[in-house]
Amino acid sequence: MSLLEVQPTDRVLEIGFGPGVAIAEFAGRATQGHIFGIDHSQAMVRHASRRNAAAVRVGRVHLTHASVEQLPSFGDPLDAILAVNSVGFWPDPVERLRELRGLLRPAGRIALVSQPRCPGATRETTVRAAEELQDMLTHAGFTQLRVKTLDLDPPVACVLAINPTDMTS
Ligand SMILES: C[S@@+](CC[C@H](N)C(=O)[O-])C[C@H]1O[C@@H](n2cnc3c(N)ncnc32)[C@H](O)[C@@H]1O
Repeated sequence: MSLLEVQPTDRVLEIGFGPGVAIAEFAGRATQGHIFGIDHSQAMVRHASRRNAAAVRVGRVHLTHASVEQLPSFGDPLDAILAVNSVGFWPDPVERLRELRGLLRPAGRIALVSQPRCPGATRETTVRAAEELQDMLTHAGFTQLRVKTLDLDPPVACVLAINPTDMTS
């Protein structure tokens, strides 16, 4: 969350928010902005809505039951997008990332996070997951890729990228 450097007026989207922990953290940072989230699980929407009830009530957090392959409208361009342990479930993830890039303002940021939890996962599994995310982001037209690793067991990879200001690229 800190790597995305969310600013007070930012408009942020999280795909696959699960119980809504990151949504709550973003709402605490973008105090004059808007936090959007989609998740295709109705149970997760209920759970996250309860966790973020106060911010939902005042219209700063907007949680929608939707899948990444059928994105709703979020109005004005977004400043930042996050997906944690979610890209692996998406159909045609490069196409999904291309669509998400279209929602970001020029120089907007994206962070894709992965902690491989398959049996026997090791540091090497995380390295490979980060490489796959980097490939997807590059194919989707993102630039300035960076990888940060959080030293848990197995390690967590966070791949950060930028929507280039030249929108033709
Ligand atoms: C492993 S959970 C991670 C939840 C949360 N990001 C976290 O780290 O605690 C994956 C989440 O992505 C959501 N998800 C999976 N595929 C999705 C899709 N195609 N569209 C929207 N959400 C999806 C699931 O419902 C689930 O809440």
